[in-house]
Amino acid sequence: MTDSVETARTAETGEAAETDRTGSAPAAHRPLAGQKALVTGGSSGIGQAVAIGLAAAGAAVAVNYHGDEDDAAGAVVETIRRDGGEAIAVQADVSDEAAVVAMFAETTSAFGRLDILVANAGIQRDAAIANMTLEEWQAVIGTNLTGQFLCVREAIRCYLAQGVAPLSRARGKIICMSSVHELIPWAGHVNYAASKGGIAQLVKTAAQEVAAQQIRVNGIAPGAIKTGINEQAWSSPEALDKLLKLIPYGRIGEPGDIARTAVWLASDDADYVTGTTIFVDGGMSLYPAFRDNG
Ligand code: BGC
Repeated sequence: MTDSVETARTAETGEAAETDRTGSAPAAHRPLAGQKALVTGGSSGIGQAVAIGLAAAGAAVAVNYHGDEDDAAGAVVETIRRDGGEAIAVQADVSDEAAVVAMFAETTSAFGRLDILVANAGIQRDAAIANMTLEEWQAVIGTNLTGQFLCVREAIRCYLAQGVAPLSRARGKIICMSSVHELIPWAGHVNYAASKGGIAQLVKTAAQEVAAQQIRVNGIAPGAIKTGINEQAWSSPEALDKLLKLIPYGRIGEPGDIARTAVWLASDDADYVTGTTIFVDGGMSLYPAFRDNG
C-alpha cells in the first residue's frame, strides 16, 4: 500500500518525554484526595502521565491497558505505589463491549466506587483515503469513538447507581481525550480526524444530557505532544523544525501539560465547567499559517 503510513498500535502514546513526564501536582496540592479514577490507555504516553498525575493529586487509579502492554501498565502502577499512591492495572480492549463492562466491574469492586473517568485510549492507522482499508477505518473508529462511547456510558451508569460523591461537588467526572483534529482537518488521517470530530459531539451531547444529575463531561484536545504516536514528527531536527512552524508557542507539548489539565478538570476547581473541550496545543488550532497570509 504505497501511500499508507504505518503507525504502531499505541495508546495516545509511546515513550513519554525526558522531562515533565508525570504532570505531578506539588506535594501539598491533593485536590483529588480519596477519589477513584479509571484511565484508559494508561500504560504509555499521555495516558501514563494522566494516571500518574491523578495519583499525585490523591486519586486511586485503575490503569487500563489493551493487550500485551501489561509490563508497561505494571510499571505505571509501581511508579504510583512507590510514590505512596494507590493503583491497579486493568486489561480491556475498549472497543469490546463485554470487556468494558468487565473493566468497570473490576475497578469498582477494587475501589468501592468511581469518581473520575479519563477516556484516553486511542490509536492511529494512517492512510490516504483512496488506499484506506475498511479494517483501518473500523479499527480507529472502534477504539477512538466507540471505545469512548462505551466507557462514557458505563461511567454514567456507575455514577447514577452509586449516588452522590462524598469527596466532590459533582456526582462524577468524565474527561474524553480528543485532539486538535476534532477541529483541524488532517489529510492522510481521515479515520482519526473523523473519530475525534465524533468525540466533540459525544462530549457536548453527554454533558447536556447528564448535567442535571451533577455529572460533568469535558474534553481535552491535545496538539502535538511528545509521545510515541507521533515520534516521526519530532525525532529528527528537520521534522521538529517543520512541526514547530505549526505551533505558535514555539515548543512541542509534554505529557505533563495534558496531565495537569486533566487534574484541574477533574477537581472541584472546575466544578462549573461542563461540555467544554480545552485545547492544550500551544496555539496549533489558531491557524498559524494566517499570521502573515490571507
Ligand atoms: C496526534 C498526533 C499529532 C497531533 C498534532 C494528535 O492528535 O495523535 O500524532 O502530532 O495530533 O497533529
